[in-house]
Amino acid sequence: MDRGSARWVSMAVTGFGQLPVRQFRGVHHRYATIADMVSTFAWGDQKVYVAGHRGLVGSALVRALEAAGAGEVIGWSSAELDLRDRDATFDAISQARPDIVIDAAAKVGGIMANSTYPVEFLRDNALIQTNVMDAAHAIDVDRLLFLGSSCIYPRHATQPIRESSLMTGPLEPTNQAYAMAKISGIFYIEAHRTQYGRHWISAMPTNLYGPGDNFDLQSSHVLPAFIRRFHEAKVSGAASVTVWGTGAPRREFLHVDDLAAACLMLLEHYDSEQTINVGRGQDLPIRELAQTVADVVGFTGAIQWDASKPDGMPRKLLDTSRITELGWRPRISLRDGLASTYQWYLDTHA
Ligand SMILES: NC(=O)c1ccc[n+]([C@@H]2O[C@H](COP(=O)([O-])OP(=O)(O)OC[C@H]3O[C@@H](n4cnc5c(N)ncnc54)[C@H](OP(=O)(O)O)[C@@H]3O)[C@@H](O)[C@H]2O)c1
Repeated sequence: MDRGSARWVSMAVTGFGQLPVRQFRGVHHRYATIADMVSTFAWGDQKVYVAGHRGLVGSALVRALEAAGAGEVIGWSSAELDLRDRDATFDAISQARPDIVIDAAAKVGGIMANSTYPVEFLRDNALIQTNVMDAAHAIDVDRLLFLGSSCIYPRHATQPIRESSLMTGPLEPTNQAYAMAKISGIFYIEAHRTQYGRHWISAMPTNLYGPGDNFDLQSSHVLPAFIRRFHEAKVSGAASVTVWGTGAPRREFLHVDDLAAACLMLLEHYDSEQTINVGRGQDLPIRELAQTVADVVGFTGAIQWDASKPDGMPRKLLDTSRITELGWRPRISLRDGLASTYQWYLDTHA
């Protein structure tokens, strides 16, 4: 990519109009671990809009951009700017005039929410991503990163899952609506590249965890649910914790600060219509994850497995050979990442 071209010259900012713009210059999160992972790209010249900046992924991106010395990082909460509202999205983005857009805004949820509200999961996510991309296109943003999710891949994709398996088979039915929206987002990126020559890219992260995670047991993913349940069992002195399934399925977990570092690297170096996987490249049985979380939390009771409950897919691991060929590697070990995530949970929830 030619960073000296006019496309990369930072645009003049003339003011933000009516809508308050949240700026994060100088905000340094004490859990940030990515300062040494970013390279010499001229981030100081860039004004970056992070859609979804308060979320698990978005807040890690803000930390990473701050650590990389981004010229300006901006964002709005969903209360300030509902990205489903096309006119409001166009107004905000055209007034703020970012150089780079990262779309980490999405309506996300677990199996129950996805299965109960497929209309909202498809419609809201299609609206959010289409509005963000159309508004970015309208002001000529040439660098945009769209974040999808590994659920876009077919249910029976060969493991580890390569990017080329996209659209080669039926999806997992429980999150089909969400996956369909994300797949259309990937193709919308491709379409802008083909039709308008934009240098837009998309990336597919594996399961993520870290500070900012969702610890609500009704909607949380397995890893934060383990942290909370083992913590509460430790505090109450419970002798055991019962967990769904056999513990045999294997899953992959990436710390969100590793993902954020990967996103910055991709914005610096990656320019292809092909989506790219971001993962650890290693998985572990849920049983081993549970024991590691219990060790980190200090829960010494028994972990009992309720094998009458569903296990889900036996394995879900991304093939990360493409991103590792670009020189990126995850830096945060599972145990270290769990320890800092548990500390964040204690600081914010306990
Ligand atoms: N978490 C994972 O394990 C994981 C794995 C793979 C991929 N991803 C992808 O990463 C992206 C972000 O996920 P996340 O885990 O960070 O989710 P999250 O923590 O729930 O954050 C989602 C963000 O989207 C914003 N948002 C939702 N609806 C909005 C709307 N109508 N208008 C404006 N903003 C809206 C929210 O804003 P407010 O907070 O202001 O309401 C929030 O900041 C998603 O595309 C997801 O598919 C996540």
